[in-house]
Amino acid sequence: MQFSDNQKALLQYLSDGNFHSGTELAVNLSMTRSAVWKLIHALNALGIEIIALNAKGYRLNAPLELLNLQVIKQALSTDTLALLGRLELHDQMDSTNRYLSELAHTHPEESGVICVAEQQTAGRGRRGRPWVSPFARNIYMSLLWRFEEGPADLSGLSLAIGVAVVRALKQQGVEEVGLKWPNDIYWQNKKLGGILLEVSGESAGPCSAVIGVGLNVNMSQDEAEAIDQEWIDVQGIIGKERVFSRGQLLASMITTLLEVTANYTQDCFSAYVDEWRKYDCMQGRKVDVFIGNKTVTGHIRGIDDGGLLLLETETGEIKHYASGEISFHRP
Ligand code: BTN
Repeated sequence: MQFSDNQKALLQYLSDGNFHSGTELAVNLSMTRSAVWKLIHALNALGIEIIALNAKGYRLNAPLELLNLQVIKQALSTDTLALLGRLELHDQMDSTNRYLSELAHTHPEESGVICVAEQQTAGRGRRGRPWVSPFARNIYMSLLWRFEEGPADLSGLSLAIGVAVVRALKQQGVEEVGLKWPNDIYWQNKKLGGILLEVSGESAGPCSAVIGVGLNVNMSQDEAEAIDQEWIDVQGIIGKERVFSRGQLLASMITTLLEVTANYTQDCFSAYVDEWRKYDCMQGRKVDVFIGNKTVTGHIRGIDDGGLLLLETETGEIKHYASGEISFHRP
């Protein structure tokens, strides 16, 4: 869903995070005070918190940067634009992965479509968990890519996407980000983001992959209340003083993700395994691996060349896992 031009103009005006009186807003946005009041109510009802104080007026709970489609496109190279079928920016949506999965079903020929939302009302995490997606704080993006021949090891694709996300963060000066097998972006034992890969079609024939990435950029404790694990955002890594642009990070992510998907059939995971190992933040750690209703305890010994997890169990045996959920023991 797209907000109305008036709702957008009001949000843009309030984006500095300062108080603005009803009169000031009405004059500058060329509308009546009662129209301003109605817009504020409508935005509140959409889940965007606008604080109202009698003596001071209205403000957002923190400053924000609204994403701008034209600005993002201008930051993309001609090579990236050639791979990009379409870039959609929605103000609010249930889930960008849900949206593109449906598109893959109704229009199987579509490829290179990127969908970004400012807010998700039903963001999907792995294993059916919700993904907390407050308005204009983080990045919620999905990429639909059609593999005509079906790459041999699609399981490695989500690991390769992890590499792409770290590359994008590095391009924007965010260092020391790690990868936690299979699909998590981590920084110092805290979750910074996650990847959700949903594939439809035949594994040996044509298939469509929807690659969803959620990355925490600048979220308040209140907004993150529903997150049930330790988390961090980009602003928490680089410090509150440094101005960070969600739009620039998004442009980098579009670039690095399209690069990986466009080359994946030819490259496969072998082109990314060494870099993945460089970012591995689990090496040697004691963990529990949950597979279905089974739990195996052991020490992480990295990944094999195909991207399977290597776990040294308590009996010294090395086991290979293609899927599972990992929980760290405290160091
Ligand atoms: C995880 O559980 O770690 C994966 C989270 C993936 C979240 C992203 S946000 C954009 C895309 N749309 C969704 O509904 N989910 C993914």
